[in-house]
Amino acid sequence: MTANAEKTSINDYVLTKEQYRRIQDWLYQVSGIDLKVGKENLVKNRLAKRIRTLGLSDFDAYIRYVEQDKSRRELLSLIDSMTTNKTSFFRERVHFDYIANHLIPDWSQRRDIRIWSAGCSSGEEPYSLSMLLFDKYAAASSTRILATDISDSILEQARTGIYRADQVEDVPTHYKIAYMQRKAGEHYSVKPDVRSTIRFANLNLMANWPMKGPFDLILCRNVMIYFDRQTQERLINRYYELLRPGGHLFIGHSESLASVNHPFSYCQPAVYKRD
Ligand SMILES: C[S@@+](CC[C@H](N)C(=O)[O-])C[C@H]1O[C@@H](n2cnc3c(N)ncnc32)[C@H](O)[C@@H]1O
Repeated sequence: MTANAEKTSINDYVLTKEQYRRIQDWLYQVSGIDLKVGKENLVKNRLAKRIRTLGLSDFDAYIRYVEQDKSRRELLSLIDSMTTNKTSFFRERVHFDYIANHLIPDWSQRRDIRIWSAGCSSGEEPYSLSMLLFDKYAAASSTRILATDISDSILEQARTGIYRADQVEDVPTHYKIAYMQRKAGEHYSVKPDVRSTIRFANLNLMANWPMKGPFDLILCRNVMIYFDRQTQERLINRYYELLRPGGHLFIGHSESLASVNHPFSYCQPAVYKRD
């Protein structure tokens, strides 16, 4: 098949080693995501659709297109299509129990709690946090939750605060009643009080961070899994600097800091503390 012939299936697209390496490099340099060998089919599947939408003939043409786009919009959209946004309300429930049982009692005399949900995806994580605080913490409305992600499209979804019924299945019923509104078409929207504590912003974890902290709690769950050891180490140490002494870091339960040099104290699986 020649480059310009009509391509009808993903298999019609050829991704050479050289092209794959180029995409791997971009992804690593911009987002820290370490696309290992053996992900060629994933890249092909996700980008072939984009190539077709743009009316381009093949991967060479796409790579040129990305390079010529000075706004870097296409590069970000490439990264967007390669990242995994899987998330859910009250994911890894143990963390929410830890906040309720260990952190909220310590916060009882304060009204200035700051939390950062780093890699918040479509918003389920920060909304779960806010609902939990409204349920269990007297000063919930003065808490500030910063929720960031590298993807503009996922942040757009997050800001709507609207979810399908199947997405809110893990929200406890009394939370759904108290903090969500049922909408037409089997959708739920998060109530304004809960939303008002959260600020969504685009932030690439590999870039400079404009905020100063200090934070009482940082969640970076199921994000570092895609980074190599060096990138994880740099990131973890940056989180340490932004935490208040006594502040906590949560990582995903399938992630580990075992091979990373860091100054945190271990509390329990996926929970660390700055002393
Ligand atoms: C699998 S989701 C995790 C969502 C949530 N934290 C959870 O545990 O359910 C990973 C998110 O990390 C974001 N991400 C990946 N690389 C990033 C980077 N360099 N900077 C900021 N966000 C990034 C992705 O866009 C994606 O939304």
